[in-house]
Amino acid sequence: MSFRTIIEPFRIHSVEPLKMTTQADRERAVRAAGYNLFALRSEDVLIDLLTDSGTGAMSRDQWAGIQHGDESYAGSPSWFRFLESVQDLFPFKHIIPTHQGRAAEKILFTAVAGPGKAVPNNTHFDTTRANVEFTGAEAVDFVVGEGHDPSAPPAFGGNMDVERLDAFLRSRPGSVPVVFVTVTNNSHGGQPVSLANLNEVRRVCDFYGLPLFLDACRFAENAWFIREREPGQESREVRDIVREMASLADGMTMSAKKDGLANIGGWLAMNDDELATRCRNLLILTEGFPTYGGLAGRDLEAIAQGLQEVVQHDYLRYRIRSTGYLGDALIRLGVPIVQPAGGHAVYIDARRLLPHIAPLQYPGQALAIALYETGGIRSCEVGTVMFGRQPDGTEHAAEADLVRLAIPRRTYTQSHMDYVIEVCADVSMRAAELPGYRIVEEAAMLRHFTARFEPITTP
Ligand code: F0G
Repeated sequence: MSFRTIIEPFRIHSVEPLKMTTQADRERAVRAAGYNLFALRSEDVLIDLLTDSGTGAMSRDQWAGIQHGDESYAGSPSWFRFLESVQDLFPFKHIIPTHQGRAAEKILFTAVAGPGKAVPNNTHFDTTRANVEFTGAEAVDFVVGEGHDPSAPPAFGGNMDVERLDAFLRSRPGSVPVVFVTVTNNSHGGQPVSLANLNEVRRVCDFYGLPLFLDACRFAENAWFIREREPGQESREVRDIVREMASLADGMTMSAKKDGLANIGGWLAMNDDELATRCRNLLILTEGFPTYGGLAGRDLEAIAQGLQEVVQHDYLRYRIRSTGYLGDALIRLGVPIVQPAGGHAVYIDARRLLPHIAPLQYPGQALAIALYETGGIRSCEVGTVMFGRQPDGTEHAAEADLVRLAIPRRTYTQSHMDYVIEVCADVSMRAAELPGYRIVEEAAMLRHFTARFEPITTP
């Protein structure tokens, strides 16, 4: 099709009002929040790009599914619909429902990790890393592409570096219980992983006799990138690509708050009978009976339907194009972003945009605050505020200072994105005027959620 306007492949059926605020209102609100965007009331946000997790809009058929929710404690028909829908895409023998992704991680790593163990991943998401480390095990990342040429953005920048993985497994016999691949790679710019790479990781796992699990939160977006970018995949059904991804793995963890198109939910899946028994025993302690996990029957229905919708090509074409649309516009404006745009988010390189703000004065935080004050846009700093404090108490600059604009699914229209682009243009023109920040209060762990800041005003 030659027309350029993105047609959202849905009409709006139920609307949520947005509250319009002035710049003065927002300056007051963010000051009262200690310049921490997590501490804002969400009503004071106009366009909320804090996360794509659980923030999407459900369809008419999902809301209808909610009415069909059967709340029987055991063996509910909603459970069987969920099971069938999950196994249609991911035909693992055991499916264990959980209230969200990190609950699945907690159960799995409690069962297989522990002191002296190590879990490799292309890049761990924060909660995944925290759940590995909480057991006393080590979480190690082997993503490809140190020193990428920024002018030649990679098609599959989320891939696992198979050589480094292989060398690690050789050096640590007996200490690795499972190898993980995160699709798409959220902590690495939301970049996808190719089928070719998954096949290579499978081969290495087979050589060492190790199970391979997917952190599959954004599996459909990953499969769409495979269809678009991987030679020979362009005429395949996304469902079939997803089934092939699943066939290369022995199990998965999942947050249905992303590509489940639901507001809550997740699951853990595997083929290993003995491991499944141990995980189900832990599930009963922390989440609930194995036919509902931590979920209501209606949530199981919403996920069952969401999984049918998320693999539809019209939806995925719109989804990936609209994220790309935001990325392309920012590139045209000269705003430095991680290229190419990810599936669910665009990451602005705040250290490059604000070279006058030293990393320890938090350029990412400075940019996120400016986007909020200027246009009511809430984003998320992924940089020195999030990663700078070390376990020994010292503080270092993070590898990069990024600001993530994560796009909720089916929630905002192209005109909302045009507005975001205008606000980014305005802020980037005034970049040299933005102040750095200092932290005036912080927690010992995961400080980014609760820290309070103040601007550094030069006399
Ligand atoms: N794995 C990945 C790759 C994720 O992005 C997330 C969540 C999780 C696991 C955990 O899932 O939230 O259901 O417990 N990511 C959200 C984000 C929070 O904003 O990127 P959960």
